[in-house]
Amino acid sequence: MRALVTGGVGFIGSHLVRGLVTAGADVVVADNLSSTHTLELIADVRDRIEFHHVDVRCPEDLGRLPRGHYDRIFHLAASFANELSIEHPVLDARTNADGTANVLAFAAAEGCDLFVYTGSSSSYGNIDVPMAEGDPTKPHTPYARDKMRGEELAITSGLPSTVFRLFNVYGPGDIPGRYRNAIPNMMRALDDPSSRIRILGREASRDFTYVDDVVSYLLDAERARGEIVNIGTGNETKIVDLATTILTLFGLDADRLTFEEPRTWDLVSRRVANIQRLEALYGPVRQTDLTEGLLTTARWLHDTGRIKHAPS
Ligand SMILES: NC(=O)c1ccc[n+]([C@@H]2O[C@H](COP(=O)([O-])OP(=O)(O)OC[C@H]3O[C@@H](n4cnc5c(N)ncnc54)[C@H](O)[C@@H]3O)[C@@H](O)[C@H]2O)c1
Repeated sequence: MRALVTGGVGFIGSHLVRGLVTAGADVVVADNLSSTHTLELIADVRDRIEFHHVDVRCPEDLGRLPRGHYDRIFHLAASFANELSIEHPVLDARTNADGTANVLAFAAAEGCDLFVYTGSSSSYGNIDVPMAEGDPTKPHTPYARDKMRGEELAITSGLPSTVFRLFNVYGPGDIPGRYRNAIPNMMRALDDPSSRIRILGREASRDFTYVDDVVSYLLDAERARGEIVNIGTGNETKIVDLATTILTLFGLDADRLTFEEPRTWDLVSRRVANIQRLEALYGPVRQTDLTEGLLTTARWLHDTGRIKHAPS
């Protein structure tokens, strides 16, 4: 199989690239390194893939990619995520909407058996849970809106496509940072004995989905050809319970939690996937145990020097 992975140097993309290499695929990776700045996350397979420094906002960059037919184009490159898009809405629109249009144009020109798009559960907005694919969407940030635009562009492109809507992915490779996800940032916050894990809203919840489970579905995107499908666990975890589990992993007490009001733009309190369509297509949902997944994530952060404290 010949595959192109945009965003293949990032958190989820690096796991996908590794999975494709393991399956024997010829893999071309296109990324502008804006997220990780290095090839660190794909270092172990670097000599088995072809990397191209490409910005999906630039059709000329895409034009320099290896030509010819691709069996799969996985489009993961994105400006991530809600908070960054509030501060840089134009960057978000150019990357997540226009960039998707550019990658679709490349796919149409070269030929592609299946275009796989990683949409976001953010696009549902603040609707009742569990969120199902047929529910009306109410994007509430530029990121949520532009990821939805990417879906629409893929579906209306005329190319065979699979659209997955991912729910709060976590695992090794998720690097802490200002605009990044809650789990690595909570773990990093604990390095400073005087700092607390901030819980933004006592009732807030999410559906935390382990990266290997997500990638197993991406690799089998053929099964969801022509569909829009949630990838989540169907389990609702309160953020406060997540934080408490993390504290336990590090042998710390609940006094390391602090409660604050949600950020003004963060209107989505509860988020959990309806997984009926996922299970209809793929069978019983694949879900790594949350505590196990958090432990693996913490060990990776520690082993790569990103947090000082080892989990117990
Ligand atoms: N992580 C999650 O919880 C989650 C949830 C829902 C959807 N998604 C989607 O999954 C995909 C991967 O997310 P991730 O968590 O791995 O994020 P990430 O930031 O780690 O990876 C995105 C990659 O895209 C690259 N990129 C950004 N702008 C680019 C551009 N203009 N041109 C080329 N490359 C560019 C970055 O350098 C990075 O390597 C994204 O499309 C994201 O919207 C992620």
